[in-house]
Amino acid sequence: MRMKAIGTFALVLGLLFASSFSACRKAEAPAASEVAPVADSGKGVASMGVVQAPFGMLPDGSAVDIFTLTNANGLKARLMTYGATLVSLELPDRNGAFADCVLGYESLDGYLKASPYFGAIVGRYGNRIAKGKFALDGKSYTLATNDGANHLHGGVKGFDKVLWKGEAVRDSSGVGVRFSYLSRDGEEGYPGALEAVVTYVLNDSNELIVSYEAKTDKPTVVNLTHHSYFNLAGGTRDILGHELTLFADRYTPVDVGLIPTGVLAPVAGTPMSFEAPTAIGARIADVPGGYDHNYVLTGGGKTIALAARVFEPESGRVMEISTVEPGIQFYSGNFLDGTITGKSGRAYGKHWGFCLETQHFPDSPNRPEFPSIVLRPGEILKTMTIHKFSTK
Ligand code: BGC
Repeated sequence: MRMKAIGTFALVLGLLFASSFSACRKAEAPAASEVAPVADSGKGVASMGVVQAPFGMLPDGSAVDIFTLTNANGLKARLMTYGATLVSLELPDRNGAFADCVLGYESLDGYLKASPYFGAIVGRYGNRIAKGKFALDGKSYTLATNDGANHLHGGVKGFDKVLWKGEAVRDSSGVGVRFSYLSRDGEEGYPGALEAVVTYVLNDSNELIVSYEAKTDKPTVVNLTHHSYFNLAGGTRDILGHELTLFADRYTPVDVGLIPTGVLAPVAGTPMSFEAPTAIGARIADVPGGYDHNYVLTGGGKTIALAARVFEPESGRVMEISTVEPGIQFYSGNFLDGTITGKSGRAYGKHWGFCLETQHFPDSPNRPEFPSIVLRPGEILKTMTIHKFSTK
């Protein structure tokens, strides 16, 4: 049973209401529409707001919109309907200077040409499924194998590459966008038509909250996550100096294809341990290929709990991640190799960004001993991750 009724989640959803603005999917996109003006009093104090504007067009002529969320402290998140993607996230450093702290592109074009899931929502199943095969209720299913012999992040055209409907939402608790997508029965090989809703909310406590909801009409497997590559130094250098704490005492070791062996191994005394704050680069040379592992969260899977804290010493920026998910994939940007030139003309070299993807464990459809990823008709999957930003 995937129903996860949690107080905070219900509160956030309860406080939200849908505005009358919805993303236009036709070629004639509307001019920018303001749901709430972002006022500047002249003292540099902005008010909360969400503004919708056209962002470009897909090859089939569908229009992509972008929503700009701003809070009273001047934090700004921009999210587009293609992939329900976080395109930019402006955060202050300890001196109040703002910088964009996620990798990506300035325009839609880049995302269409080459994006290793920059800022996107990943689904229907985030992470890997061995050989793209699983069985459910005695039936076998075959998915695309788009990562060597394995299935990765929903397949050839996962949720990161589809056009979502976007709707601005706001009330006194925050401003946001409610993205929805209907994945048809059989899409990428998955059984069941799946209705997915992902709501991002920015509030004045400097939290970016990502809430997920899904329903199906046939038994299926679901593992939704958010795939931002963070760089709290504003993308100016690699992330090896960022100090990471993971609230996890075990991880899921993997084979050469990055499929879990099934063991939940203790991290203590190994380069996998981030139980105490440690620079990402401190022991990365001892981890073949770099970090690309799922951690078993100590407080995960039951109620919202702190999963990770990241501190960037030069800027003073801090990000804390809390989730109700049982796992988190820590990926240290190992496959970035300088061939992608992103925002501000920067070539994204190895380890230029890191991902912390809250999730159920990789290959769970083939591991009945892992927390269940099965969703059945009549159930509602509800999950949530909070990114809280501060400085020290
Ligand atoms: C995975 C990596 C993969 C990357 C794709 C991460 O979530 O763990 O193995 O290469 O996504 O950008």
